[in-house]
Amino acid sequence: MSAPGGGRVDPDVRSRGHWSGRLGFVLAASGSAIGLGNIWKFPYMTGENGGSAFVLVYLACIAVVGLPVMMAEILLGRRAQRNPARAMATLAHEARASKHWRLVGIAGIVAGAIILSYYSVVAGWMLDYLVRASTGSFGNIGAQDATRAFDGLLADGLRLSLWHTLFMLMTMVVVARGVHRGLEAANRALMPALVAILVLLLGYGVVEGDMARAVSFMFDADFSKLTPGVILAAMGQAFFTLSIGMGAMMAYGSYLRRDVSIAQTACYVAAADTAFAILAGLAVFAIVFGHGMASAAGPGLVMHTLPIAFGNMPGGTVIGFLFFVLIVFAAWTSAISIAEPGVSWCAEQTRLTRAQASVVIGGIIWLVGIAVALSFNAWKDFRLFGLGLFDAFDYLASNVMLPLGGLMIVAFAGWVLSSAHAREELRCGDRLFALWRSTVRYVSPVVIVLIFLSLTGVMST
Ligand code: PFF
Repeated sequence: MSAPGGGRVDPDVRSRGHWSGRLGFVLAASGSAIGLGNIWKFPYMTGENGGSAFVLVYLACIAVVGLPVMMAEILLGRRAQRNPARAMATLAHEARASKHWRLVGIAGIVAGAIILSYYSVVAGWMLDYLVRASTGSFGNIGAQDATRAFDGLLADGLRLSLWHTLFMLMTMVVVARGVHRGLEAANRALMPALVAILVLLLGYGVVEGDMARAVSFMFDADFSKLTPGVILAAMGQAFFTLSIGMGAMMAYGSYLRRDVSIAQTACYVAAADTAFAILAGLAVFAIVFGHGMASAAGPGLVMHTLPIAFGNMPGGTVIGFLFFVLIVFAAWTSAISIAEPGVSWCAEQTRLTRAQASVVIGGIIWLVGIAVALSFNAWKDFRLFGLGLFDAFDYLASNVMLPLGGLMIVAFAGWVLSSAHAREELRCGDRLFALWRSTVRYVSPVVIVLIFLSLTGVMST
């Protein structure tokens, strides 16, 4: 395989694995995209931000910003066939642009560390609930008990830290092994199962919950709730859920073979991810409204609602157990992709092996994650930008770092990368290419900047 820019192929390029084919990539990228962001975060963000207004802006952001950024990110990765920091430097060199573009890759690695530190703590909640579900402790549980159970978990710093430790270990073991057939195969088996369980939950929502209200809450256009904060949150969620803006898709793209159309595969991934979020949202809100619970319960929303569904449906112990197994798996396939840019960068830029790099990067993230776990209890009073550590990290990463990273990626793909090179990678028809090119040059960057500006109040003065 020849590297762009010609010359000798360096060893890290030669030793990198590849997805088995298009399906393998679509599954791995969907595995990255579909995770806690869809099942845990999307429903509570929708609840907190007023429902339909948030959902509609979110969908618009996916179409106008998310999809074009995703295509750009995958194409940069595939063209360079290197870790994100190195990829940006190589492509900048190829285009005779500043080598400082590599800072985009480095910033992405930092964003990934921040995200994984709290993502792993939330995945730990799911592990805890997996055990509870398997012991039948949700049997006939009511709204109050479910809320109390979750509050009890948050108050227990040791327990949170232990689950977080286990999840980090699971993640780093897989990352240490490199591009893995095992995971690709597991993705093939488990993603359909996740869909099946989701359909079951939806069915429960229709029969036992208030699906009509859930639908109107999520889709009846109500723009009175639209504020700059809601718009920014929707854009941040679009970035988070599609795994874009921090180099994860770039890293995955770098393992993609040259003959696959990026335009098409990115569409599949974005569509699967969006459908998943909408269905999960409908299932959760049907249960919320059916049980008279508060839709704006924040990050605990899913932890309050799902146990009720499982505790009250026939066969709920088994289904609940399966659901939490699968949600942990969905989180796992995402967490691996969050760690991948940092680990591949560390292994390729230092003398460390991939396994050693996983220990170093994983160790740092684990330590930060312990602070996040304690921020729910022992360190509750600690404040960063006026928020608790968990909220501050999520806000900083999703609403600031990912959109900024995305802005840089589209700027590079639209203005620095030559049109011929972009076309070579995307492999799509002329019309679609022209549409993508003008979107990444004009539309996506302008939308991202305007959303930032609206928040700082510059627009209103
Ligand atoms: N997209 C993942 C989710 O929705 O859970 C989270 C995520 C993965 C964010 C990879 C960022 C990333 F680079």
